[in-house]
Amino acid sequence: MDNSAQIDYWNGPAGQKWVRDADRMDVMLSPFAEAVISRIAPKPGQSVIDIGCGAGALSLNLAASSVNVAVTGVDISEPLLAVARARAAAVGAKATFVNGDAAVWKPEVLADFAISRFGVMFFADPVAAFANIRKSLHKDGRIAFACWRSLQENAWALTPLQAALPLLSEAPMPPPPGTPGPFAFADKEYIERILMESGWLDIRIAPWDGSLTLPGASVAESAQFMLEMGPLARAISDSALDLASIKAAVEVRLKELAGPDGRVHLAAAAWIVEAVA
Ligand SMILES: C[S@@+](CC[C@H](N)C(=O)[O-])C[C@H]1O[C@@H](n2cnc3c(N)ncnc32)[C@H](O)[C@@H]1O
Repeated sequence: MDNSAQIDYWNGPAGQKWVRDADRMDVMLSPFAEAVISRIAPKPGQSVIDIGCGAGALSLNLAASSVNVAVTGVDISEPLLAVARARAAAVGAKATFVNGDAAVWKPEVLADFAISRFGVMFFADPVAAFANIRKSLHKDGRIAFACWRSLQENAWALTPLQAALPLLSEAPMPPPPGTPGPFAFADKEYIERILMESGWLDIRIAPWDGSLTLPGASVAESAQFMLEMGPLARAISDSALDLASIKAAVEVRLKELAGPDGRVHLAAAAWIVEAVA
């Protein structure tokens, strides 16, 4: 199983952007920390693995809200792990962050829970990866994770992309089904199949519908953020495009959608997935 393309991606310029935007990203994604953590109730002495922990927000939220629970974040991105470790040190959190490919990484001692906020959609071989995660837990251990539904259902990501479309040299093609990426788990049946084939039991997949507030104190800042993160950022990453015009087009569209508070709140759709090892 070769996750080297993702390892390069998350240690390269994309990882650096996530480092720069980590604080703003965590505010935007905070509803999902609550959605995932509320699905598990670790007792003192139990342990939790955070898969694809990135800059560590989910791990640190959990560490802050539970007593004497060992939290280990696993990620392939050294720059993001450095942020997670610095954040943990700053608040004296009992969380450990390790560099490992969750598809093959094994904890020293089996854990009680695995959790993830948008960190499990990037495996080249998801069945093998989820089998490995299952084997990292005690029998009857549980997993709870959030993953995006389709791009079409996620206006926060789709709207900036649509605003920029006329200025792109070509419209980005949706990746073939099963391609690792943020929307790889959009299809509920696909998630069910992966979890069943990797041996998980009692699979529950519930829709999460809400809205996200785009980061940025002004619409201009929100537009800039969306040029740096999400599908629009991926669409413009490797072509010589007129970024100033793209930003202006995104800004115009976001201005139309801004609420009375001057902020942009757009629909978001995810799955909250639970299963037993
Ligand atoms: C969308 S980010 C989410 C980060 C974090 N969970 C959060 O909510 O902010 C996806 C994360 O998954 C990590 N990732 C991707 N493939 C991975 C793998 N095979 N093993 C461990 N982490 C992986 C990336 O490095 C990245 O930090």
